[in-house]
Amino acid sequence: MPRIAYVDGRYVPLRQAAIHIEDRGYQFADGVYEVCAVVNGVILDMDAHLDRLDRSLHELRIRQPLERTALRVVMRETLRRNRIRHGIIYIQVTRGVARRDHPFPAASHPVVVMTARSVDFSRIIERAALGVPVITVPDQRWARRDIKSISLLPNVLAKQTAYEKGAYEAWLVDDDGHVTEGSSTNAWIVPTEGVLVTRPLGPDILAGVTRAGLVEVARKVGMRVEERTFTVTEAKKSREAFLSSTTNFAMPVVSVDGEPIGTGKPGSATRALLKGYWQRIMDETGVTASDIPGLAKL
Ligand code: PDD
Repeated sequence: MPRIAYVDGRYVPLRQAAIHIEDRGYQFADGVYEVCAVVNGVILDMDAHLDRLDRSLHELRIRQPLERTALRVVMRETLRRNRIRHGIIYIQVTRGVARRDHPFPAASHPVVVMTARSVDFSRIIERAALGVPVITVPDQRWARRDIKSISLLPNVLAKQTAYEKGAYEAWLVDDDGHVTEGSSTNAWIVPTEGVLVTRPLGPDILAGVTRAGLVEVARKVGMRVEERTFTVTEAKKSREAFLSSTTNFAMPVVSVDGEPIGTGKPGSATRALLKGYWQRIMDETGVTASDIPGLAKL
């Protein structure tokens, strides 16, 4: 079955999907995006993602391309046409097509692109059973990381460095030695039992939708969440560490720069949190533990 993309008002086979070479997203990275997880055909935390999309657009003064109701219809239709039960949907909005010139164009309309693909979440659950290594690199991004901009070059370079060093993610470190977040994930540590630490929201990091969900779950299961900065040194001395994102949920981090975290194995707090997070997904989507291999053993 050919994959279908939504491009500026039309559904087209992915192979034929194209945008104009003078799209400002292509020339200036002048655009924003969202990635949402889909479980059992349900888009997780859809409104939180659309709220963040609205905010990103507003901050960059890009016009709303579609009313929210219309956007929801297009998202659902993109999933339907690609027959996605479990997967992700990618939404991108750029400022549109115009002759290349830095100032905002007087006459152009925002261009929406959507793609969707299936994801086998059992692979993520399998990986969570082992945990992942991360490395640290300097955070070389701009000062507005709260905007989910498609301008991701420093993130791409950091992730590539991580992969070349056999790590799963790169944690980005500010000039004071504090971890901001990962190249495409939020960063967390568990310095003492029952306490989760993650950087406070602000211009330094993206307000992760998963981060917000995990804060909710943590409080429900009786863990305390401290939103404060932490250093690489503190991370390395912690009992546990993990990262979070739409595609990773809560993923245990078992080493930082080659130094084991805690026992060097996924910890009990992260496991409890992941379990609680999947319970939340099950409640939201009606998916059952037997639908996703590995889930029952979490
Ligand atoms: N990344 N921080 C950064 C820099 C990110 O790019 C992301 C998401 C997150 C986690 O946000 P959320 O929980 O809302 O996914 C944090 C997406 C998935 C990506 O770029 O593919």
